[in-house]
Amino acid sequence: MTHIPRFFRPGPWRAALLRCCLLGWVGWAAAGAALAQPAPAPVPVPAPSAERQSALVRMVRQDCGSCHGMRLTGGLGPAITPQALEGKPLLSMASTIYGGRPGTPMPGWSAMLTLEEAHWVAQQLAEGFPEESRRPAR
Ligand code: HEC
Repeated sequence: MTHIPRFFRPGPWRAALLRCCLLGWVGWAAAGAALAQPAPAPVPVPAPSAERQSALVRMVRQDCGSCHGMRLTGGLGPAITPQALEGKPLLSMASTIYGGRPGTPMPGWSAMLTLEEAHWVAQQLAEGFPEESRRPAR
């Protein structure tokens, strides 16, 4: 016969122990629920203002084209068209734009845009990059 420790034999000790476990479990469950309350929504990346968007479009059209081609279909750098970027994670593209790719000619643009804006640019590239607005620059 295996030895049952005294505190686990039926009786007041075991009742107290079980109650304690149960309370603990309920406590943890409640704490877990409380912590989990603000459901981890997908991190919303704010879109830049309309004005900033056209500045970013101009920047990409003028500065990225020198390596990625005027139509972004590739040159020294690879094509960054929707077809070429299909299936590539936006966050990874955003961090390439923001921080560059060390060891390659791809420079980082963190002096020119924020990470959120880099994410917006990556999103536009993946969806088909807008043309520069015809409106004269202010
Ligand atoms: C000096 C040349 C150069 C300029 C300017 C440049 N790139 Fe690049 N870019 C590259 C090269 C080269 C690579 C490929 C790096 C590698 O080998 O992984 C690259 C890679 C990328 C990638 C990743 C593509 C992929 O399929 O993984 C993105 C996105 C990108 N560039 C966006 C931009 C944007 C947006 C700009 C302008 C803000 C820009 N690049 C300006 C040279 C350049």
